[in-house]
Order: sequence, then structure tokens, then C-alpha cells
Amino acid sequence: MSLAGADTLPGEFTFTDADFDALARLARSEFGLSLASSKKPLVYSRLARRLRARGLASFADYMSLLDQGDEAAERLELVSALTTNVTSFFREKHHFETLRTALIPELAAQKRIRIWSAGCSSGQEAFSIAMTLLDGVPPGARDLRILATDIDPAILRKARSGRYPAEDCETVPADFRSRWLRPLPGQPEMVEVSAELKALISFAELNLICDWPFKGPFDAIFCRNVAIYFDQDTQQRLWTRFAEKLRAGGILFIGHSERLSGPALPEFTTAGVTTYRKGATPGPLRPT
Ligand SMILES: C[S@@+](CC[C@H](N)C(=O)[O-])C[C@H]1O[C@@H](n2cnc3c(N)ncnc32)[C@H](O)[C@@H]1O
Repeated sequence: MSLAGADTLPGEFTFTDADFDALARLARSEFGLSLASSKKPLVYSRLARRLRARGLASFADYMSLLDQGDEAAERLELVSALTTNVTSFFREKHHFETLRTALIPELAAQKRIRIWSAGCSSGQEAFSIAMTLLDGVPPGARDLRILATDIDPAILRKARSGRYPAEDCETVPADFRSRWLRPLPGQPEMVEVSAELKALISFAELNLICDWPFKGPFDAIFCRNVAIYFDQDTQQRLWTRFAEKLRAGGILFIGHSERLSGPALPEFTTAGVTTYRKGATPGPLRPT
């Protein structure tokens, strides 16, 4: 146990205020993550297992390790420890209702439909979008693609597998379950999404605060429960960049505790709960 000074959190590892400040600077500059000083005990408890795993004695040692050029994987472990991958099928289901009742009828007139799930975690959000699209878009009009990105390569491997505990699929509507989810042979407690769904989605690693190597435009962007980890400047830059990637009339869906603010606000019209349409037309979305 370290009791090295008043600014040191008591515990297994030495963690001074200076260590916390250095960690917060790194988390912000590389990943946009906002760590208020009140989060010091939380950060300690989340990262203690990384120090143990790496055989380190203090957070100062951990910072030195993160500074090394070949420790990119540990930096991602840091993001994983400081954020959560919590997600579920049809989470915040009013967004999928909006996709089905308001956006899909408009999209059906287009040949090409592009949707981005930004911060997709283990993929349930992207598969929920895929099911909603396949259900709602007439077969003849289907040039559908979903881009699903996350910073965390381990969670993306899970997403690409499309395999989930059966109990996690209870929020999938029953008719969608029977169309697109199958029990895994020999593992009745697990299900796998169909190849038809997987074929619509490209999963890719992307740090949202870095460059985006694709043009768009997208018809809809889902970025839910991700910006909540970012400081306000990073959030506001993100909203502006999303506005640039959406087509006129495209929709941005954000998480239940997130709000649009800053220079991007005039670009959008509120179109429902945590739902924003780019441009002033055609006004609030109404279910058909
Ligand atoms: C709570 S999950 C949200 C999953 C899904 N969007 C939902 O709402 O159910 C947050 C995800 O954001 C990802 N994330 C955190 N920081 C990121 C960053 N800088 N760039 C891209 N993804 C990030 C995490 O890896 C995690 O999978």
C-alpha cells in the first residue's frame, strides 16, 4: 500500500494527482475522453487490473509504459477500461421506429442507402439497423450498406462473429428473430445472425477523433452513448463532422443522455427524441 502523500490515493498502487493529470491529458488528446478529477477513484479501480496484468507498481510506471511507441495495444486497453461496451439489440427502440416509419419510406425512392453505426461496440446496433432496413426496404430497391466502426479491435471481432447469448436477443422482435437469428449448432444457449445480415455490414476500426477515411454521404448516422465520454469541445467537433458526412435531410441519432450543441446546431432540426435531421426540411418526422 502506498501512502506517499496527501494527493496520493491510498491503495495497492501509487496514484498521485500528477499521475492522474498526465493520464487525463493523454486520454483527451488521443481519444477525446474527458476525465474530471472527481473520477480519480473510478479511474484507479478501472486501471488497477491493467497495472496488475503488466506487473507494474505505480501509475507513473503505467504512464511511462504508455509513452512507448510499441504500446498501441495497451492504449486501446486504456480506452476499454475507461469506457464501456454496454449495448443491446434495439436499444432506445424509438430510433428504429423512426428509421422504419419515417426514414425508410423516403429512402425507398433512392437506389443507394448508406448508414453509419459510429461506436458500434459488439455490433447489436448495426444488426438492428440491418434487420429494420431489410424488413422495410422493398427488395428491388436494395443497394444497402452499413458501416459499423469502433476503436476497440477486440469488440469488433465479437461484432464480426455475429454470435450472441440467446438471452441477449430477447429485445429482437419475434418475427425478426425467426427470420435472421439461428441457434449455434451444439450451443443452444448461443445464436448467430444470418449471413444475409452480415453481408450488409462492414465492420472497421476507427478512432472517432482521428481522420475518417471515407467520403459518405450517409442517409443516417447512429452515434449513441459514445460522445458521452468526450469533453465538450470534442463532442462539438464531432457533431460538425457528422453534419458534413450526412446528406441533406439525413438523420443523426444520438444517445439518451447526449445533446447536440455548438456550431453544428444550426445545421440540424430536432426531429424527435435525440434525433436530428440535417437541414430545415422536411420538418419533424412523423410516423406514417
Ligand atoms: C457504450 S458503447 C455504445 C454502443 C452503441 N452505440 C449503443 O449505444 O448501444 C460505447 C462504444 O464507444 C467506443 N469508443 C469509445 N471511445 C471511442 C473513440 N474515441 N472512437 C471510437 N469509438 C470509441 C467504445 O469502444 C464502445 O464500444
